[in-house]
Amino acid sequence: MSFPWAKQYEPQQPLMKWLDEKLPLPRLVYNAVGAGYPVPRNLNYFWNFGVLAGAALAIQIITGIVLAMHYAANAGVAFNSVEHIMRDVNAGWFIRYAHMNGASMFFIVVYLHIFRGLYYGSYKAPREMVWLLGVVIFLLMMATAFMGYVLPWGQMSFWGAQVITGFFSAIPVVGEPIRVWLLGGFAPDNAALNRFFSLHYLLPFVIAGVVILHIWALHIPGSNNPTGIEVKDEQDTVPFHPYYTAKDGFGLGIFLLMFVLLTFFSPNLLGHADNYIPANPLSTPAHIVPEWYFWPFYAILRAFTFNFLWIDAKLWGVIAMFASIALLFFLPWLDSSPVKSSTYRPLYKKFFWVLVFDVLLLGVCGKMPAEQPWVVLSQIGAAYYFAHFLIILPIVSRIERPAPMPNSITEAVLAKHADDMSAAATA
Ligand code: HEM
Repeated sequence: MSFPWAKQYEPQQPLMKWLDEKLPLPRLVYNAVGAGYPVPRNLNYFWNFGVLAGAALAIQIITGIVLAMHYAANAGVAFNSVEHIMRDVNAGWFIRYAHMNGASMFFIVVYLHIFRGLYYGSYKAPREMVWLLGVVIFLLMMATAFMGYVLPWGQMSFWGAQVITGFFSAIPVVGEPIRVWLLGGFAPDNAALNRFFSLHYLLPFVIAGVVILHIWALHIPGSNNPTGIEVKDEQDTVPFHPYYTAKDGFGLGIFLLMFVLLTFFSPNLLGHADNYIPANPLSTPAHIVPEWYFWPFYAILRAFTFNFLWIDAKLWGVIAMFASIALLFFLPWLDSSPVKSSTYRPLYKKFFWVLVFDVLLLGVCGKMPAEQPWVVLSQIGAAYYFAHFLIILPIVSRIERPAPMPNSITEAVLAKHADDMSAAATA
């Protein structure tokens, strides 16, 4: 929906007028992220994370293209080509560390972006499509990150690829042929490395395409906001530029500060030392562990330790892991509460924080070896994860009595302003 009070683009210079007639790109930018896009006036800093995810994607694409100029996707030399980048290429160490840590920063901001959506009910109508496209992006990000981690051809690269592709063989009858077909061999080797490299280069551009659809879908209803109340009139909005370009710019500064701190002062903090050992198919590492952003899903994958209903435990693990993400596609319809924001959902808010704790617990379990107490904790954590979405959320959304809500965004803002003023007066 374009709001009737949105400012209109009026080119001033002759060149811009000419361009506007031939190819109205500046008009598109003006209406998408400029003064022509009205946005709720009460967005908090959690609304920075979409733009930050876009910045992280851009950083990954730029650093990735430079890395690909020096990397050799051949199992015989891949490891050494990465060492060559680190030691011989001018600023190669910086580009590589930026790309490595950029992936972590990307997942940090996207996880915060997703949990923001969960807290403020941004996945609900009329923004279901924004959410669904977001889940597609998330799946593509996971595939891209997994394939990228294989490229340095270190021990964790090789054994990670071996374990994850090994899960295909859990599928009865066709599983093993599928695995061999995907890898181009019986174990990860040159063919697998080459196709992973090709796809790792391709997918970020597919992600960029889906991001355009994501933002397009968002611009139809416009942004949600911390109250979850839809925009009613002009008073409820401010133009995106300069208000949110400034706010996003500040957020971007903080993001870049964190990024350079990680990249320059502790570039291997989030990595695994074993990936500095060349891949060796004859020596299995004591403990195969994926990158931190996969830990919660890895814990769900390993939570099944027993066969059940004639289905192998390993296959259950694979089904559960995929289901834990696929479930998110149904979220807009699992939660039937008409109230979006947790601010006015006292019961949902409690369960939201339990879910946050549960995902963190799953993360710790995914990092730890498959031993007690981590196995039982990952079973409890995985069971709770599914219960949250499939049982708790549908019930809570039916029985919950929401807190009294303001009539409009402006009313909420003015009430908060009055509260702040009286607090200041009594202080
Ligand atoms: C490359 C990754 C992504 C990029 C670049 C991206 C970008 C954006 C941008 C720029 C916005 C508007 C600003 C904001 O609300 O923060 C947005 C909104 C949104 N995104 Fe994403 N996003 C990404 C991934 C995801 C994922 C993985 C999900 C969910 C699974 C998601 C769900 C949403 C939702 C529901 C909104 C609407 C928020 C609202 O209006 O309250 N996004 N996204």
